[in-house]
Amino acid sequence: MISVTFYDTKAYDRPAFEQYGALHDIRFRFLETKLNEDTVDLASGSDCVCVFVNDAVNAAVIDKMYRFGVKLIALRCAGYNNVDIRAAYGKVHVVHVPAYSPYSVAEHAAALLLTSVRRIHKAYNRTRDFNFSLNGLTGFDLHGKTVGVVGTGKIGRIFIDICRGFGMNVIAYDPFPASGTNIEYVDLDELFSRSDIISLHCPLTEQTRHIVDASAIERMKKGVVILNTSRGALIDAEALLEGIKARKIGAACLDVYEEEADIFFEDRSGHILNDELLSRLISMPNVIVTSHQAFLTQEALSNIAQTTVDNILSYYNNDGVCDNELCYRCDRIEQCKKSRNKRCF
Ligand code: NAI
Repeated sequence: MISVTFYDTKAYDRPAFEQYGALHDIRFRFLETKLNEDTVDLASGSDCVCVFVNDAVNAAVIDKMYRFGVKLIALRCAGYNNVDIRAAYGKVHVVHVPAYSPYSVAEHAAALLLTSVRRIHKAYNRTRDFNFSLNGLTGFDLHGKTVGVVGTGKIGRIFIDICRGFGMNVIAYDPFPASGTNIEYVDLDELFSRSDIISLHCPLTEQTRHIVDASAIERMKKGVVILNTSRGALIDAEALLEGIKARKIGAACLDVYEEEADIFFEDRSGHILNDELLSRLISMPNVIVTSHQAFLTQEALSNIAQTTVDNILSYYNNDGVCDNELCYRCDRIEQCKKSRNKRCF
């Protein structure tokens, strides 16, 4: 029996895991608390720890898990910027779900874009109050506008297809351009200066942290719409707020926020929000915030559970081999041992 402790679980996480887990010899323990140095002791006695985007899997946490005999950290998400994979190397193997439904995120980005430019959020509130006035609801056509897509991986390319369906012109920036596509790649400067809409679909790395900062905003068109469904820290939120206050940014649609870890995924209504910056952003008429919801479709939840269970089974039943293992050397193919030994270490 493989024992797995889940951190940061919500009611919507459990059904799919219980369904797939019941078919196998796995015992799940679902905790609501997030993983950090204060809560890692709860994983004692587990074979595997399953974490999500805002669990803090730092070196101290990894060392404790290693001492407890935890062999595997199974991320039930794609991004792994919250895991110190360098610290995990040689101690605890790390697996993730590289793709579960890129459509869920790309479609959410498109939903945010349409909501914002056609003022659907305002119209919804008005008509519920029997206010049928159209004043202030004038939007703009997406057709013919230029969208700049930063990161043309799985999600970015689906978002591009959606934008093309609307008749938009697409330009993109990615240090590793996708081959065999007809995407017009430009450098970041050109993307910032030509785009009416900018959508971020790259991972959070040292290179991409605050890729949208004050100087980037300065180079953008007046009235630009910025979409972020990737990771909060891609945007310097203070610079974003300044750009909005200066009327430079036409709208911002944020599914993620740099300091979301202690705020998102919880019901904070009735409480005073201890984040001035987020409060100020939310108060802006041209900002839409969703709380890291882009992944949340039935298809995605089902695929996440299935792949996570498969990752765990593969690791434990296949001599530690799992195709979805990752390490800090993986992106330097010749240095990662997986290509030779089928395992990162
Ligand atoms: P992917 O790995 O398929 O694509 C990422 C792309 O970004 C790659 O083409 C890569 O070359 C590119 N990239 C790397 N460094 C870059 C840089 N400096 N500038 C521009 N592009 C760069 O990843 P996928 O599946 O498309 O996911 C993208 C991001 O979406 C994830 O990293 C994650 O942060 C976010 N995400 C958000 C979710 C949500 O619920 N809001 C759910 C799932 C993913």
